[in-house]
Amino acid sequence: MNKIVIEGNGPLKGEVKISGAKNAALPMFAATLLAPGASILENVPDLMDTRTIAKLVEVLGARIEKTDDSTYAIDCSDIKNHEAPYSLVKTMRASCLVLGPLLARLGHAKVSLPGGCAIGERPIDQHLKGLSALGATIDLSHGYVDIHASSRLKGARITMDIITVTGVMNIMMAAVLADGETVIENAAREPEVIALADFLRAMGANIKGDGTATITIEGVTSLSPARTAIIPDRIEAGTFMVAAAITGGDVTITNANPKHMSALSGKLKEAGCEISTDDFKIRVLAKNGIEAVNVTTAPYPGFPTDMQAQFMALMSVANGASVVEETIFENRFMHVAELKRMGADIKLSGNSAMIKGIKKLSGAEVMATDLRASASLVLAGLSAEGRTVISRVYHLDRGYELMEKKLEKLGGIIRREPGGGSKKP
Ligand code: EPZ
Repeated sequence: MNKIVIEGNGPLKGEVKISGAKNAALPMFAATLLAPGASILENVPDLMDTRTIAKLVEVLGARIEKTDDSTYAIDCSDIKNHEAPYSLVKTMRASCLVLGPLLARLGHAKVSLPGGCAIGERPIDQHLKGLSALGATIDLSHGYVDIHASSRLKGARITMDIITVTGVMNIMMAAVLADGETVIENAAREPEVIALADFLRAMGANIKGDGTATITIEGVTSLSPARTAIIPDRIEAGTFMVAAAITGGDVTITNANPKHMSALSGKLKEAGCEISTDDFKIRVLAKNGIEAVNVTTAPYPGFPTDMQAQFMALMSVANGASVVEETIFENRFMHVAELKRMGADIKLSGNSAMIKGIKKLSGAEVMATDLRASASLVLAGLSAEGRTVISRVYHLDRGYELMEKKLEKLGGIIRREPGGGSKKP
């Protein structure tokens, strides 16, 4: 597999265009299963994960045509197969997003249990709680969740025990074809949930309250295919904002939605960055050094857990000491050991990291362990003294489209080379 080689090279400068959001695209591929006919998804990022979900809906019976670099036509007229195979699900836990639509469309879904991943156990008990409240029966055996509905699902009032993004998405996609009203309380409020609701409404669904903690859905008897453009990836945008900050640069991020970035923007301003925005642009100027600030991750609109590793790289070279607290996942500090190999002064205690900023990180050979940890190591390498070599970069390819090309355009000295650790079995 590839590795990425980075030479620390001073401030990044220029403009970078953000791709469509991975975490909005994945549920939308799943949602196309709800309606016979061809839906069109535009601005789909070309990532390992989007290629995986496309393969999965094809296995289920969809006919897919990539009409240009980022547009997919997905014809779900003949969805007959209700089973998502382990071979695909094991590579991407978000495959569980087909549970809700398959249950609503076919009355049956069999999906290999996603299993944990590097950042945590990541159960789907809340997904299953919601689907059974809608009338499904669930059988867990042999590593699969086998879920049936002997008749049309029935609307229900569901209070989530935990705020779960894909959990609320799965329940929404089942409830849109249920008989009667469904109310989901304690719902995730992420922009990707709103984007999915917009797509479902375009298909004919009746959904209100998305983006708040209470979502109300009036079931309909059928849906039609629709066309939508994937919203910008707020985590990719945030990653480039931190890239500007950590290199003391001046970067304008285009095709991003500043309204989705307020928690991160607020922290970068506290750290001394100048941030200016207009409709779909964010400029980050970091010419006066970086001050240490504390961060605690939280569900949207709080500070995103998907930006925690990247922000920690920044705090490693800030003036002063900071605390980063991870409240969403139980094992999302695997980048710490790698950052410490680059000289970072970080002490872990439970779900908190105490960071003492140092002047400069030093380049080293490091290993990517998960998607956002690999992004954190790229940012650290851009600002370090000397050469950083990151192995197992297939993690990075799951969620960032042409990252090294975009960074090169901003003045980063970064290239991909063969070798660097084989893919996990
Ligand atoms: C989504 O994952 C994102 N992935 C994640 O992004 C993101 O980190 C996460 O939301 C939180 O924002 C996609 O949208 C494809 P959760 P999801 O369900 O939905 C626990 C990235 O880097 N939980 O909101 O799987 C769970 O273990 C990825 O792009 C249960 O206990 O996350 C976690 O501790 C990583 N039972 C917490 O809730 C459940 O049934 C939040 O998980 C569901 C979740």
